[in-house]
Amino acid sequence: MEIRFILNKKQISIDVKADAVLMDVLRSLGCKSIKCGCETTNCGLCTVWIDGKSRLSCSVLAASVDGCEITTLEGVEEEAAEFGRFLAAEGGEQCGFCSPGFIMNVLAMKRELQDPDLEEIKEYLAGNLCRCTGYMSQLRAIQKYMAAQKEKEVQA
Ligand code: FES
Ligand code: FES
Repeated sequence: MEIRFILNKKQISIDVKADAVLMDVLRSLGCKSIKCGCETTNCGLCTVWIDGKSRLSCSVLAASVDGCEITTLEGVEEEAAEFGRFLAAEGGEQCGFCSPGFIMNVLAMKRELQDPDLEEIKEYLAGNLCRCTGYMSQLRAIQKYMAAQKEKEVQA
């Protein structure tokens, strides 16, 4: 079946099987930032945005995104790189395997929550697993990043 959607601001038209999984289709279109850590909705590595909301692309049928707008890390590179600098400064990026999905969810949280406290941040990111960092460095990076964004808004 043919489906059409917008991927990182580009119109896509592609033939997919009825049971094709979105994660595989997006990777076949070059979005290699999307990683597969479990295929069972447990790790968060495959996070993308569908119509602006974080979704686990391993659990979405490609056919269901016909007409949708999809964003992957490749579509928010500049913003991701900015947060990545905070992550690196806090030692929150080690093997980096979890980073793309994690960053997509952090950037989604920034859009969705106003001034979240530590518990809200933890809750929002509970689905993003990391085998390396122990999470504290990631949380420090997020808090510093969010504070810097707030500062920018005040100055604007
Ligand atoms: S690969 Fe999708 S949640 Fe793990
Ligand atoms: S940095 Fe290695 S899994 Fe998160």
